[in-house]
Amino acid sequence: MVRIALFSLLFVQAAFGLTLNKRNTAFFAPSAGGGSQLNNANDGAGEPLNVIISGLSSPAVLTDDGILNFARAIGFSTECLGIHLGDPQSANLGDGNGWVNQTMELREDYGDAGLGTCLESAIGGNHFRVYRQNGPTANSGALFLAVSQEKDESNNHDIVDNGYNVGRDALVQSAVGNTNFGGVSYTTTEQDISGLMAAGADGVNHGIATDGIVKLLTVTIN
Ligand SMILES: *[C@@H]1O[C@H](CO)[C@@H](O)[C@H](O)[C@H]1NC(C)=O
Repeated sequence: MVRIALFSLLFVQAAFGLTLNKRNTAFFAPSAGGGSQLNNANDGAGEPLNVIISGLSSPAVLTDDGILNFARAIGFSTECLGIHLGDPQSANLGDGNGWVNQTMELREDYGDAGLGTCLESAIGGNHFRVYRQNGPTANSGALFLAVSQEKDESNNHDIVDNGYNVGRDALVQSAVGNTNFGGVSYTTTEQDISGLMAAGADGVNHGIATDGIVKLLTVTIN
């Protein structure tokens, strides 16, 4: 009896280890696989995918639940009580999956993971969409984020001036270093990546220029 229990415990550990094996690639450049560092904002232009959560992060961070908990640790939460704000946008990460809609959209929660996002919807703030690079030809497991700082609802959620760089930098600033939420603590490091997208406003939604820098975050669970 004891032997069977021990055996199944080992089996469970092995299975768990397989699904959460650490990856060995930070990310693949979407352009290398026919993709783009701009998403499709449904209006002929795209939002920059200006933050990447590295595939070398702790595997548990890269799951849907994992990125949600990390987002809460750095001041974001799910959209205001599930109220749908705007259409989903798609991205092609060059991983063989083609254009795929965002996995989720998260908004700044103003210190209240339940109701704060409603405040963000009303007064504007930082928000991001999440895309996972997990297709058959470039399976890094990395998460590509389209981060932007928005105006309030009366302005139809337009992006503020320089809102892509501003939103990205605000997210990175709250992420880097030590953070925690729900009993999970994180250490996050940042690296600037150039060459993934051009600086300027070419093809960028609302014609808002960016500096062309993508911030790579490596998030480790302590
Ligand atoms: C994204 O979702 C919208 C709304 O559900 C749908 O109309 C559209 O076809 C989807 N796009 C992709 C690329 O799956």
